[in-house]
Formats: sequence, C-alpha cells, structure tokens
Amino acid sequence: MEDIINSFTSSFEDSGISLEKVRIYPRPAFPFPWTTKAFFAAMPHSVDGIPMELEPFGFKERQYDLVIIGYQPWFLSPSIPISSLLQHPAFKTVVNDTPVVTITGCRNMWINAQEKLKLRLKEANARLVGNIALADRHDNYTSLVTILYWMLKGKKDRKWGIFPKPGVSDADVAGSEVFGQTVKKHLLSEEWSELQPDLVRQKAVEVKYYLMFIERKAGRIFKIWSGIINKKKNKGPWLTAFKYYILIALFVAAPLILTIDAIFFRPFLGRRIKKQKEYYEGVDLA
Ligand SMILES: Cc1cc2nc3c(=O)[nH]c(=O)nc-3n(C[C@H](O)[C@H](O)[C@H](O)COP(=O)(O)O)c2cc1C
Repeated sequence: MEDIINSFTSSFEDSGISLEKVRIYPRPAFPFPWTTKAFFAAMPHSVDGIPMELEPFGFKERQYDLVIIGYQPWFLSPSIPISSLLQHPAFKTVVNDTPVVTITGCRNMWINAQEKLKLRLKEANARLVGNIALADRHDNYTSLVTILYWMLKGKKDRKWGIFPKPGVSDADVAGSEVFGQTVKKHLLSEEWSELQPDLVRQKAVEVKYYLMFIERKAGRIFKIWSGIINKKKNKGPWLTAFKYYILIALFVAAPLILTIDAIFFRPFLGRRIKKQKEYYEGVDLA
C-alpha cells in the first residue's frame, strides 16, 4: 500500500501541493508473515468493523483540501486498522465536510469493503469524490494461491518459481501515478463532480462480473459467520470451520453456482448487471 500511495501521489509535490502522509499502525501489530491462525482470526472483527487501538498519530492541519485514504480489504471488509481509523474521532473531524479519494490495493475483491467504507464516510460527513481499485489481474485461484504464499511466508516472489508474483503488479503500482494526476487536476480546479467518471474512463476501477457475483453472495455469508463467531468465547474451532468453509465455497460451490448462473440467469439479466457494475464503479451510496 505504501508503494501505491507513493506512486499515486508522486506528481503532487511538483505542482506545489503540500502533501502530508500519515501511516497508521495498529496496536498491537499484526504478525508479518501472518500465521494461518492470526490470518483467519482477523475475520470476525474485520467483517463486523470492530475497531482496535491504533498507535498515536496526528495531523499537522485542522482541515485539508483533500484526504486520500489508501487501504486494504480484509475478508471483504475494510481491514481492521482502517476501520479503526474511520471510527477514530480525530480522523472523523479531519474528513468532516472534506473531499475524500479512496485507493485500494487488494487481491481482487474490494466492492463490499468499499460499500462499508462509503457508509463510514457518510457517517463522518465526508464527501467521497473518487475511488481507485488496484487488484491482482491473475485469475481468482492463481491470485489466491500467490497471496496466501505472500502473506504466510512473507515473500513477494514467485512461488516455486512457477506462479506469478503475488498482488498488484509492479506495472500497475507504477501506473497508479496516472490516476494521481487525474485526481491532482481536479484538486487544482476544485471541481470534483467529473472525477470518478474520468477515473472510470481511465479504468482506475473495473468491476468484473464473476467477482461481483461471488462477493455479493459471500459478503452476506461472511456476516453470518462473523456474527456467530464474535459471540463465541472459544473461537478456535469456529475459525477452523470457517477456514474449511471458505475453501469448499471457493473451490467447489463457486464454480457450480457460477455455471448455473451462466446458463440460467446471466443471459437474461444484462441490463441489471450493467447497472450494478456502474453502481460499484461509482462513489454514491445506495
Ligand atoms: C487478513 C487478510 C484478509 C484479506 N482479505 C482480502 C479480501 O477480502 N479481498 C482482497 O481482494 N484481498 C484481501 N487481502 C489482501 C489485501 O487486501 C492486500 O492486498 C494485501 O494485504 C497486500 O497489501 P499490503 O502489503 O499493503 O498489506 C487480505 C489480506 C489479509 C492479510
């Protein structure tokens, strides 16, 4: 995320814009590389948006012309650190009545997280004016294998020398500078209404049908799991059950459901699907 933010904002300083970067650290820190246990244990609080403590942070100014939020989705929800930030009084004060641009760096599933973020921003009276989503462009299974390798081994290289590099590609990280320039243009003119349409034209956000389909279903199911697990004293067995559930859902159920959908539903729902895609590519909240 830091690389993305640096690339995205690299043209700002040349234009005399004063740029302040604030990195948020959760307290205690999450392990990296992750253990499998810690990885899945992050699910219930991510999904239910339960905040945690953050290391002290501060802002130089009381008000900004633009706030850019870089964040990662965790379990189809804003990560626990970003969700904690969004609920933090100091941050809520800073984004109040202020234009906000969000930028995600993820595996490939960000739309549910972004919907939750839209809601938090609305509660804080912020004005979401732009969104950029950078994702791994490899297929859903390859990117799952490689991101788990990266997260659990801590190595961002090619697993077994065979798989591609995990996460957002270096080219896309570097290319995010172009989206930054678009945001900069709107910042300098203080005209925000056309920012997101401009970003969509540049393909700064692309909603893929089958990922949207899976996410919409999985988001609701994760919510049921998190609701149950958050109430349990002994979460361990439930988290193990969730881990196996996810694997079965992804490798067995998803291909089946997608095939049924491709034959019986998708061909007849063209207009509705187009509208859904446009909605998720936008910055409005339904
Ligand atoms: C606990 C955890 C859950 C994640 N869940 C998702 C997810 O639901 N969707 C997704 O596209 N990426 C997911 N990712 C990948 C992250 O969004 C992100 O791409 C990854 O952490 C690399 O970014 P970073 O180096 O900035 O942390 C997850 C990562 C972690 C650690």
